[in-house]
Amino acid sequence: MASQHVLAEPATAAIFLVATVDDGGIDGIRDLLADLAGLTRSVAFRSPEDKLTCVAGVGSRVWDGLYGEPRPAGLHPFQEVAGSKHTAIATPGDLLFHLRARRMDLCFELARQISLRLAGLATVVDEVHGFKYFDQRDVLGFVDGTENPDDQDAVDAVTVGDEDPAFAGSSYVIVQKYVHDMAAWQAISVEEQERVIGRSKVDDIEMSDAVKPKNSHIALNVIEDEDGNELDIVRDNMVFGNIADGSFGTYFIGYAKDPEVIERMLQNMFIGDPPGNYDRILDFSTVLTGNLYFVPTANFLEDQPS
Ligand code: HEM
Repeated sequence: MASQHVLAEPATAAIFLVATVDDGGIDGIRDLLADLAGLTRSVAFRSPEDKLTCVAGVGSRVWDGLYGEPRPAGLHPFQEVAGSKHTAIATPGDLLFHLRARRMDLCFELARQISLRLAGLATVVDEVHGFKYFDQRDVLGFVDGTENPDDQDAVDAVTVGDEDPAFAGSSYVIVQKYVHDMAAWQAISVEEQERVIGRSKVDDIEMSDAVKPKNSHIALNVIEDEDGNELDIVRDNMVFGNIADGSFGTYFIGYAKDPEVIERMLQNMFIGDPPGNYDRILDFSTVLTGNLYFVPTANFLEDQPS
């Protein structure tokens, strides 16, 4: 079973399309998803060295109509996470298209081809054009992605296995769009910013446990199972922004073999661990969207009767 390109080559450009399926659109969407790998090849082949890929995610609301039984064990709507001060909201989204390449024009051309096929079947409700900022930094100025697992560890982190045999090789993905209060962020010192993240800003070195604040982003996102093994996800966040309207953002995207891992991180961030000890990054960030999707294998999408 070939997985979709969840573990893509490093990209510098991405487009995130979130769509809701219109009444009567289900059959056409099933056909589009079956054709997606072919559409991607048509655009990617023009410039193979630029590594255009597209991952499609399917939301809980449309799964039964699209594919019926069996249902992926971990597929459910994104659950809002309400803390005392910040809430991870759930917003509409039946389909996610995660397009990545080393050139934005390739992403845009594939997005255009997908949109032609979506017409009359689904409505794009959110679209973000993201890019990698210098040194792989987020717009807050910190290197983002350092502690992602690599090689086999990455495969293990994102690939459904024997726990749901009908869907072995699949994955789950959670996306959230954040905008940052840059004025408030820049008003604090670099040392204070480092205490928010839990790593040094210029050198990207993790703080020792002795000095790392309990409410830093890193302290709350390093989680373990009951046997003390660290639970990994694979992130490929992108920066986005708009000078004219003053928005500066992070598009968070996390892949995992079990969405509960990402949900636990969100609980730590928004509710806090212990409750009340929430992630300080949220005092400088507002979350605007929240969706959860299942990522079937490429074969599953393609092998549907039309
Ligand atoms: C680590 C930024 C949201 C999970 C990091 C790092 C930065 C960062 C700078 C440190 C370097 C690295 O290892 O990548 C951000 C920003 C976010 C955001 C700007 C948007 C406000 C999230 C969310 C989650 C998450 C929503 C999970 C639900 C993680 C994890 C790590 C991490 C698991 C690695 C922890 C470790 O193993 O050291 N993030 N992040 N992040 N983030 Fe985020």
